[in-house]
Amino acid sequence: MPHFLEWSRAYAHRLTADSAAPLKARAPEIAQRLARDLTAGELPFLSLPFRAKLEVEMAPLIPRIKAYRHMLVLGIGGSALGARAMQQAFAPGQDGPNHRGPCLWIADNVCAERFEALLGKLTPAETVVVCISKSGGTIETISQYFLVRDWLKASVGEGWQDQMIVVTDERKGYLREEATRYGLTALEVPDYLGGRYSALSAVGLLPAAFLGIDWQALLDGAADVARPLVQAPERVAEHPSFALACWAKALEDHGYSQLIFFSYIPQWSAYGDWFAQLWAESLGKDGQGSQPVPATGVTDQHSINQMFLSGPRNKGCIFLTSRDQAQGPNFGMDVPDQWAWLRAKPFGSLLEAEALGTRMALCQKGVPLLHVEMHNSGPRAAGSLMLLLEAATLFTGWLMGINPLDQPSVELGKRLANARLGAGGYAQEEADLAEYLAVPRMEQGF
Ligand code: PA5
Repeated sequence: MPHFLEWSRAYAHRLTADSAAPLKARAPEIAQRLARDLTAGELPFLSLPFRAKLEVEMAPLIPRIKAYRHMLVLGIGGSALGARAMQQAFAPGQDGPNHRGPCLWIADNVCAERFEALLGKLTPAETVVVCISKSGGTIETISQYFLVRDWLKASVGEGWQDQMIVVTDERKGYLREEATRYGLTALEVPDYLGGRYSALSAVGLLPAAFLGIDWQALLDGAADVARPLVQAPERVAEHPSFALACWAKALEDHGYSQLIFFSYIPQWSAYGDWFAQLWAESLGKDGQGSQPVPATGVTDQHSINQMFLSGPRNKGCIFLTSRDQAQGPNFGMDVPDQWAWLRAKPFGSLLEAEALGTRMALCQKGVPLLHVEMHNSGPRAAGSLMLLLEAATLFTGWLMGINPLDQPSVELGKRLANARLGAGGYAQEEADLAEYLAVPRMEQGF
């Protein structure tokens, strides 16, 4: 069954139907580039050429990882957010009472207190560790790897290698060297598959498989959406991802500097963080781009929605719903008279009504709104949504004239942190740090 983009309220207020016309007219140029980059093998998140190999490699690995009660993932950014979104959407059991199934822990920060507490509670013999880094050299991930390696060794001795799996570049990087040195099981992040476009590779799918999520369905859903682009790039103009990209770029061109991602599929709320990283790291370049603002219905109706409705008129909205949300229990007939209209209604009717109410309120307040209506909220649908958003991000970047696949600016902070930690080869950064720290502090206590 199809999912839908519902466009009736997307071109509204400052954005007219004509706003995107010049962008849509650029379809032949985008199609040409798409065909070229697909042929060159530079868009593996669309063509999924790694799928067959991944299936072969996962087959023996799945029973091996499932023998453990816990999986500890070390990774950050694109190496963590997809797995977390899948976990929260499709295997949230460990957040609830009386959970007895597998537990996935994703360590994507360098908070010493929390990391120590996590290791203190996990039993090494019951834990398989998966260290995920495309570059193989991200300091947050590698530093955790060193500590976890010691933690495993201290408990299980030389058997630590059996409990450490790495997911990294096929040939280069420190983590690949480690895998070779110690004979660690290693899955590859294919060439040209950058972090935030890699959730539907081993990066996200190994943790998903551990949790028993139908990871093949995620790939099937992605392939459903990618197929028309891969098989007929010359017809990109007809693809919903291109329409979405034209809308997003038109929004930006008309002063809408923020893009709300409002999910009324509450169990998919972590997809908001995944999308925010995809959008921000891909498109925040050369003084351009729109700031992604993830929000979850109905929770955020009672927090940031006031700003969406009556703050600056600088926001467009992707509004996500599913047609088959669970309805839950019905209200009893003894609900007090004051609430009589709830009698015999399912609890789930609130979400549908509130989604409609919020959607209408946003439209009435001048927010151009694209309604993404999923047929259901299963893994296959999620794979389709992920691919749609990845392709839309790619095309938006091409329309902006930037490279949506790199992230040069975040490197600066990394270099400065390395210099601060005493890594060699950062003379300029060391000088810049000294200058920055020499500015007299202006303190105000509170
Ligand atoms: O999307 C990206 O490329 C980044 O967010 C990376 O995923 C993140 O920086 C981690 O990089 P790596 O996987 O190389 O450790």
